[in-house]
Amino acid sequence: MIDWLYLPPLASEHGAKVDSFILYIHWLMGALFVGWLGYFAYALWRFRASNNPQANYTGLRSHASTYIEGVVVAAEAVLLIGFAIPLWASAVEEFPPASESIQVNVTGRQFNWISRYPGPDGKFGRQDVHLVSPENPMGILAKNEATKDEDPAGADDIVLEISEVVVPVDKPVIVRVTSLDVIHSFKVPALRVCQDATPGIAVPVHFTATRLGNYRLTCAQLCGQGHYSMAGVVRVVTEDEFNQWLAEQTPASAEPVSYE
Ligand code: CUA
Repeated sequence: MIDWLYLPPLASEHGAKVDSFILYIHWLMGALFVGWLGYFAYALWRFRASNNPQANYTGLRSHASTYIEGVVVAAEAVLLIGFAIPLWASAVEEFPPASESIQVNVTGRQFNWISRYPGPDGKFGRQDVHLVSPENPMGILAKNEATKDEDPAGADDIVLEISEVVVPVDKPVIVRVTSLDVIHSFKVPALRVCQDATPGIAVPVHFTATRLGNYRLTCAQLCGQGHYSMAGVVRVVTEDEFNQWLAEQTPASAEPVSYE
């Protein structure tokens, strides 16, 4: 019954609720559209000049419009309190336990997406802004020769600079979204996920992918001349494929890193 909205394919658990909500809003807007147009047509005919040579100064006595407005307000209140607020609350408050989730940090940059996985130890290494370089865009502190500072948790972190996020199906995923430069927006229509990527803060979003496949990742904020090229892919794979893929990745610290 929702096909006529031509929404993107759905591949996440919470997405069905988002879609129903969009459908209900369309029903309300459709009713208002038909109602207003009908009233407009009626008013054109009812108050036509040929039938009303003299202006009527008494005006309308009926309270019908008040009742109709009451119904519209009630419908909007149901949408807001019954659907929008619970949906938003589950998006921003009901996070799956971190220990049972796949954690990914996704960073927007002019003009691609960098995804970072914590590696086998499940812990992200510390980051240091002074270590950010073309070779180490995330400024991961694996080992800093200059300060003799090191963080073993960062040694196995995996960093992908190819606008690709890989997640297993049917498993909760927490993505922390941030940016290196301007405001981008991490948008995966099939997962019904969209979160602005803002420099200086990492905002978590969560979802559970329900269908295998490759889904388009885009940037939903006009972020510069290369905005159009910030397209990427979210690959939803089986858990076995995911673990195998993860094992095949080279930790970021194995890449040449220049510390100053
Ligand atoms: Cu990044 Cu548009």
